[in-house]
Amino acid sequence: MTIAVCPGSFDPVTYGHIDIIKRAAKIFDKVIVAVLVNMEKKPWFTIEERTEFLRKVTEDIPNVEIVGFEGLLVDFASACNANAIVKGLRAVSDFEYEFQMALTNNKLNSNIETVFLTTSSENMYLSSSIVKQVGLLGGDISPFVPDCVKEGILERIKQRSSLK
Ligand code: PNS
Repeated sequence: MTIAVCPGSFDPVTYGHIDIIKRAAKIFDKVIVAVLVNMEKKPWFTIEERTEFLRKVTEDIPNVEIVGFEGLLVDFASACNANAIVKGLRAVSDFEYEFQMALTNNKLNSNIETVFLTTSSENMYLSSSIVKQVGLLGGDISPFVPDCVKEGILERIKQRSSLK
């Protein structure tokens, strides 16, 4: 059985992530989506909230499982007996950071390979940070995220503005 771990901060999940998860689910027998901590980012949503969004938007894909984890990705992947870590590559700008992470992970555990899938062209520009920014500035985010995630972002924006 082939198992892939699809890691990310998913803060929150976008159509770009869903595209990569769906495509990984066609290649591997099982895809475990790992919602992890990216220490370089200040998240809007808790791991539980991010996990819940992912569960809702992937409920129609039978071989996908969603798990939250606070620790090293390679430890998680090896505990899952994963054959590979799958990541989406959007543009050249992603490459340097993703390459650095793939090499570091391989150094930490040489049994775990990183496989990159190229993002479909319509999702090339998408990122969770840009979607949050568009939402904050009153733009329509429905082309970028499923309805339940859109509601979550708009709710969070309301909470943030009431705190000011
Ligand atoms: O969606 P992101 O924010 O680009 O994902 C980055 C993520 C969460 C996959 C990365 O920060 C990560 O693997 N975090 C877990 C901790 C870890 O293993 N860090 C070392 C990776 S080189």
